[in-house]
Amino acid sequence: MSDSRGHDGRNSHDDNHRSTPEGGQGHGSGHAPAHGPAHGHGHGHGHGDGWADFDWETLLPLLVGEAELFSGAYREAAAWIAGQRSGGPEVRRILDIGSGPGVVTCLLAEAFPGAEVVAVDGNRALLGHARARAERLGLGDRVRTVETELPDGFGELGEADLVWAGNSLHHLGDQRAALAGFARLLRPGGTVALAEGGLPTRRLPRDIGMGRPGLEARIDVLVDERFAKMRAELPDAKEETEDWAALLTSVGLVSPAGRSFLVDFPAPLDPAVREQVAYTFARTAETVGDQLSPEDAAVLARLTDPEDEAGLARRPDVFLLTARSVHTARRAG
Ligand SMILES: C[S@@+](CC[C@H](N)C(=O)[O-])C[C@H]1O[C@@H](n2cnc3c(N)ncnc32)[C@H](O)[C@@H]1O
Repeated sequence: MSDSRGHDGRNSHDDNHRSTPEGGQGHGSGHAPAHGPAHGHGHGHGHGDGWADFDWETLLPLLVGEAELFSGAYREAAAWIAGQRSGGPEVRRILDIGSGPGVVTCLLAEAFPGAEVVAVDGNRALLGHARARAERLGLGDRVRTVETELPDGFGELGEADLVWAGNSLHHLGDQRAALAGFARLLRPGGTVALAEGGLPTRRLPRDIGMGRPGLEARIDVLVDERFAKMRAELPDAKEETEDWAALLTSVGLVSPAGRSFLVDFPAPLDPAVREQVAYTFARTAETVGDQLSPEDAAVLARLTDPEDEAGLARRPDVFLLTARSVHTARRAG
């Protein structure tokens, strides 16, 4: 484990002017753990052949871009959690499990100004970005990082008033055991919050004037299959019904609740959001493109061609619409 601090300042609300990666499914972004000591784990937005070959530095813009674009939703989620806890013990320590590059870590630090926020991840490079971001935003004195691989590293984390796991629990083979681990970290009255699932992302109308309507829905099916394969290949993989409320109460937590938060960028998109949408489709082409029908593959090739008038870089009807779900429960005070 390594542990470090950051420092710096700037507002993270550059959010909605960046780009979006995201695999297109309600799984949030990445699925695709790579468990090689050389590169830590990966998770690649439901794409990528060979989960073990993740190039984190390549995926970084995708991760950061998605989290920034979804920041409005995550801020609403944090405010919802803060509201749930009003009258309860103050949030003094937060663990952001599977923090990645720390976009949400910093949002949590802003939403809970009395808290130390610990970004926990197995990937050292991503934690470096989390620290740099915290410093840039002036949050360095309250944001720490812990490099550790879960579930083995639970003992290194210390206790918390809020355990946030954003798009990360599904990277652990035994999700119920991991939730039990989260529950054990909680102080009395503490909260576990899982950002898992939501709605498939839509970026184009059903009928885009070329090919067979419904391309994104067909891509979603392929991405879902990749997600299932990713999960099945995880160490200690266990199938689990994704009834988050039932799972949270099964590990002794109480008052389960869930809410979903909208991400809505209507057309016409500003260039940075459009760029991120194009980036997402390019990843889709790389990772599931070979499983598409020849007709769909040809449409995807046109969409990702920056010179094509009907491509994502130029067409006026591109938007970004999705929702993120957050599931909470607390330790009885
Ligand atoms: C999809 S990213 C989510 C990043 C961030 N929470 C967000 O929502 O933008 C999942 C993160 O979990 C981390 N991760 C995956 N498996 C892990 C494990 N077994 N132990 C620690 N971190 C893990 C990955 O390194 C990655 O940074």
